[in-house]
Amino acid sequence: MHVDNPAFWRAGAISTVIVMSVVLIMLTIDTLAVISPGGTHVPPYAVINQHIDYRFDAKRGSDVPVITGSEPFFGKAWEQAGAEALIDKGKLVIQSRACMGCHTFFGNGAYYAPDLTKAWLDPAWETWQAITGKATREEAMAAFLMDPEMYRTWTRTMPNLGLTEQEAMATVAYLKWMAAVDTNGFPPNFGRMQTKQ
Ligand code: HEC
Repeated sequence: MHVDNPAFWRAGAISTVIVMSVVLIMLTIDTLAVISPGGTHVPPYAVINQHIDYRFDAKRGSDVPVITGSEPFFGKAWEQAGAEALIDKGKLVIQSRACMGCHTFFGNGAYYAPDLTKAWLDPAWETWQAITGKATREEAMAAFLMDPEMYRTWTRTMPNLGLTEQEAMATVAYLKWMAAVDTNGFPPNFGRMQTKQ
C-alpha cells in the first residue's frame, strides 16, 4: 500500500512545495505588473503632469481614472525623477503626520475623516478654490493642507499639522498620483454621494 510508505508522503510533500512555489512566483510576477508604477493599474509618477478624470466604465461596472492631456502641476511639467522625488517626499509627510490616524488610503486607516484615495478628484475642490482664492486645484489643496482650520468645510475640522509649503506641495503630488491609480472602482460611488439616496 502506498499510504504505508513514508516515501510516498515525502514525494507528495516535495511535489506540492514545488508546484506551489511556481504558482507563488507566477502570482508575484503578475501582482508586480499590476501594482508597480507604470504597471497596468498604477500610473508612472509623471502622471502628475496630466489631467485626471474619473468616468464610469460600463464594461467593467466601475469608475476608472481616465488620464488625458497635459496639465502643469504647480505651474510646470515635472521630469520623471523630479516627480518621483516629490511623491516620495509626500509619502514621508503623510507618514510623519499620521494622516491614517483619521483618514483611510485605499480603505486602510481610520474612519474619522474621508477616504483620501480619490481626494484629488473631489468636486469640492472647486468650492475650495473659491474659498482660498487660488487659480488651480493643486494650489487650493496645498492652501487647505497648510491651514485646514481656516478653510474648513465640514462638521469635523482637520487640525493644522504644521505643513510647510514644500511639504504641502509634495503631499498634493502624492494625492494626485494616488487618484490616478485604477482601484477597480474603490471607493464606490465616489463623487456622487450627494445624489445617492
Ligand atoms: C485629527 C484627524 C485628521 C488628521 C490627522 C488628518 N486629517 Fe485630513 N481631514 C480631517 C477632517 C475632519 C477633514 C474634513 C475637514 C473639512 O472638510 O473641513 C479632513 C479633510 C482632508 C482633505 C479633504 C478631503 C476631501 O476630498 O474633501 C484632505 C485632502 C486631507 N484631509 C488630507 C490630509 C492629510 C494629507 C493628512 C496628513 C498630512 C491629514 N489629512 C491628516 C481630519 C484629519
